[in-house]
Amino acid sequence: MVKLEGYGKQIKGLDFQEVDQRNAEISTKIEKRTGLGNDFLGWLDYASKLPSSEVERIKACALRIRKNYKALAVVGIGGSYLGARAAIEALNGLFPKDKFKIVFLGDTLSSTYTVQALKFLKNKKFAINVISKSGTTTEPSVAFRLLKGMLEKKFGHAYLKDAIVATTDKARGALKKEADAEGYEEFVIPDDVGGRYSVITPVGLLPIACAGIDIDQFLLGVKDGEKDYSNPDYHLNPAYKYGATRYLLYKAGYPIEMFISYEPQFAMIGEWLKQLFGESEGKDGKALFPAAATFTTDLHSMGQFIQEGSKVLFETIIRADHPQKDIKVEADKENLDGLNYLAGKKLSYINDRAFQGTLKAHVETGSVPANVVRIKKMDAYNLGNLFYFFMRSCAFSAYLLDINPFNQPGVEIYKKNMFTLLGKPS
Ligand code: PA5
Repeated sequence: MVKLEGYGKQIKGLDFQEVDQRNAEISTKIEKRTGLGNDFLGWLDYASKLPSSEVERIKACALRIRKNYKALAVVGIGGSYLGARAAIEALNGLFPKDKFKIVFLGDTLSSTYTVQALKFLKNKKFAINVISKSGTTTEPSVAFRLLKGMLEKKFGHAYLKDAIVATTDKARGALKKEADAEGYEEFVIPDDVGGRYSVITPVGLLPIACAGIDIDQFLLGVKDGEKDYSNPDYHLNPAYKYGATRYLLYKAGYPIEMFISYEPQFAMIGEWLKQLFGESEGKDGKALFPAAATFTTDLHSMGQFIQEGSKVLFETIIRADHPQKDIKVEADKENLDGLNYLAGKKLSYINDRAFQGTLKAHVETGSVPANVVRIKKMDAYNLGNLFYFFMRSCAFSAYLLDINPFNQPGVEIYKKNMFTLLGKPS
């Protein structure tokens, strides 16, 4: 279970009266599935209901891909992409030892990125996991067509059947039709789980397993999350407490929440959080603007603004108490760099002092309120638990805002304009 800490007089002084009054109403909306968008609450108990045979099929598919190919192209965008990438980078790091390579495509229309990624894959024997709930999203559809074309040209059409795995709707969409017609292995994105809540389904599980990560542990973290964050009383439920705190900070005049970590390999968790909260809550002219930064890196860019700029934001810091790796600073006879005062100290100790010093500077001197969300260490179990914590918090704070957390009507407008400009037949 995560530990939630609140720092700053603004958090200590928040008036929780409204939450006290609405706690039962909001938690019932989640628990009894009676709130806005209630047909998209399948993620609440998805992990504990997922048959072990399906988990085994995901693991077997991942093993087959790892055994028969040198790389996997994961094709998807938004909720069909961010969770898997966040998990793989957070757990395997930015310089993974694994010889098996994972490449993400279909999350951009950049010709430069796409050509570079295709070139990287060109001389490798690679498989494709194409992920799209609707099965019709332009970005992944275009990338998928380009990838297929490349494989087909080199190995012939028959090669595609084993090399492609489709994760999509059980019945609808162009991808489903194609997967059935071509005989690709298929995994289902359930009707009642929306994209940004789908990292705990095959959308996330298959790429994560292909990266060599233990999905049993990941799912155990999610399943424990179902118990850890289900108490209807927000005083006893850190997910609801955090959801309530961010809602009240928004109402108290802080329109921006900045997600912070001190680990570069957690940066994609920040991207996942931006989507989770931004797409779930940003409706009806309301909601916090979610931003993200990595410290201490961004202390040398955004640090100045946070410390002394306009007082528009609060921080939510994700801390893992124990780093995955560590190294000591050695003593140096000459001490020309003057760093001998750090000799014998671990880099994680120095990073932790940076965290403590920054927290004090921002909260006490800069008057920037901060939440700290602590986990013991970043492993598959704790990451599954952390994802679930944030999903549950998001449902709670969105319902406090009287917003449907599970739709994204605004996203359609850019698509409509783009299709008109591209001359897409209606
Ligand atoms: O969270 C969401 O619902 C969206 O971000 C979708 O995941 C994204 O638009 C991709 O959609 P699809 O999986 O249908 O290709």
